[in-house]
Amino acid sequence: MTGPRSYGYTDTLDAEHYTKALRADISGGLTSIPKSTAPTWFYDARGSELFEEITQLPEYPLWRAELGLLQLHAQDIAARTGARSLVELGSGSSTKSKLIIEALDPSGLHYITVDVSADALHQAGAQLVQDYPGIRLHALRADFTAPFVLPALPDDGSRLIAFLGSTLGNFRRPARGPFLRGLRDTLRPQDFLLLGADLVKTEEEMTAAYDDAQGVTAEFNKNLLHVVNRELNADFDPDTFDHVSVWNGTESLIEMRLRSRVEQLVKVRDLDLAVNFTRGEEWITERSAKFTLAGLQEEMTAAGLRTNEIWADKNAGFALILATAH
Ligand code: SAH
Ligand code: AVI
Repeated sequence: MTGPRSYGYTDTLDAEHYTKALRADISGGLTSIPKSTAPTWFYDARGSELFEEITQLPEYPLWRAELGLLQLHAQDIAARTGARSLVELGSGSSTKSKLIIEALDPSGLHYITVDVSADALHQAGAQLVQDYPGIRLHALRADFTAPFVLPALPDDGSRLIAFLGSTLGNFRRPARGPFLRGLRDTLRPQDFLLLGADLVKTEEEMTAAYDDAQGVTAEFNKNLLHVVNRELNADFDPDTFDHVSVWNGTESLIEMRLRSRVEQLVKVRDLDLAVNFTRGEEWITERSAKFTLAGLQEEMTAAGLRTNEIWADKNAGFALILATAH
C-alpha cells in the first residue's frame, strides 16, 4: 500500500535566466586572462550522466569515501540532528542522500533537492518518490551561486542542510567565505549543516582523480564545449582541445583545463564574439579546492559556523563535518 505521493517541482532557471547567466559567464570568462569559466555549465543531461560515471572510477575515490562515511554514520547524523527537513544543494542523483533519508525516516520527511540540472532532478525525483512513498519531495532547479528562495518548510523540527561531494571546493577563496556565511544565515539555532570535504593528498592522487585512464573526465570537461555550441551557437571543435588536470598548490586546488592544440579563432555567434586561442593556451573550466581539516574549520568559524562533529576517512582523505550556527 502506498499513500498519496508528494512531489513538487520549481524551475527558477527558465530558458531566459539560464541563458542570461551562461552568456554572462562565458563572455566574461573567455575574454579574461587566463580564460576561466564556472563549472555550473557541465551539467546538461550528458554532463550529469558523465559525472555519475566519474563517481565509479578507481581514480576518483572521494565519492565512494563519502558514501562509506554515510554508511557508517548516517544513524548518528540522524540522532544528533533529529531533522524533519533535509535541504540538499547540488543534490545530483541523491544516491548518497538516501542513506541520510533512511536514517531520518522518510515518512513525512521534507526533502528539498536543489540543482542546476533539470535531468538530474527529474531522474532522482522519480526514483525517490517510488522508493519512499511517504516523503514530501520538492525539487528546485536553481543556481546556488546566486540567491534563491526555498519552498516553504514547516517551522517546527530542525532542518539539515547538506552540501556533499566536496562541491564546496568549486568555490574559490575569497568567494567561499561569503557563500559559507550565506549558508550559516539560513540556519536557525536548532538547524544543522552537513558538509562533505575532500582533503589534500599527494599531487599524483589529486591530479589522477581529474584525469582518469578511461578518459571519462576528459569527456566531462569537453562536454562544456558541446553545451556552449548548442546553447550559444558556437563552433568549438572538441578535437582541437586536450583535457588537462593541474594541481595549483598556491590556492590548494585542482584546475581542470582545456588546452588548445592549435592557434584558432572560435565564433560564439549568440555573443557576437570571436575568441582567439593561441596554440597551447589553457582555459580553466573548473577549480576543485582540496581542504585541510584545520583550514576548513578556520573558514567555517570565520563564517559563523561551529563544528559539532567530524567524521573522517583518513585513508581516503575525506571528511564530513556537522555544524551549527554560532
Ligand atoms: N552531491 C552529489 C552531486 C555532486 S556533482 C554527489 O555528491 O553525488 C555536483 C552537482 O551540483 C551536480 O548535480 C550539478 O548539477 C550541481 N551543480 C553544479 N553547479 C551548480 C550550481 N551553480 N547550482 C546548483 N547546482 C549546481
Ligand atoms: C562536483 N564537484 C565537486 C566535482 C569535483 O570533484 O570537483 C566535479 C568533478 N569534476 C571532475 N571530476 C569531478
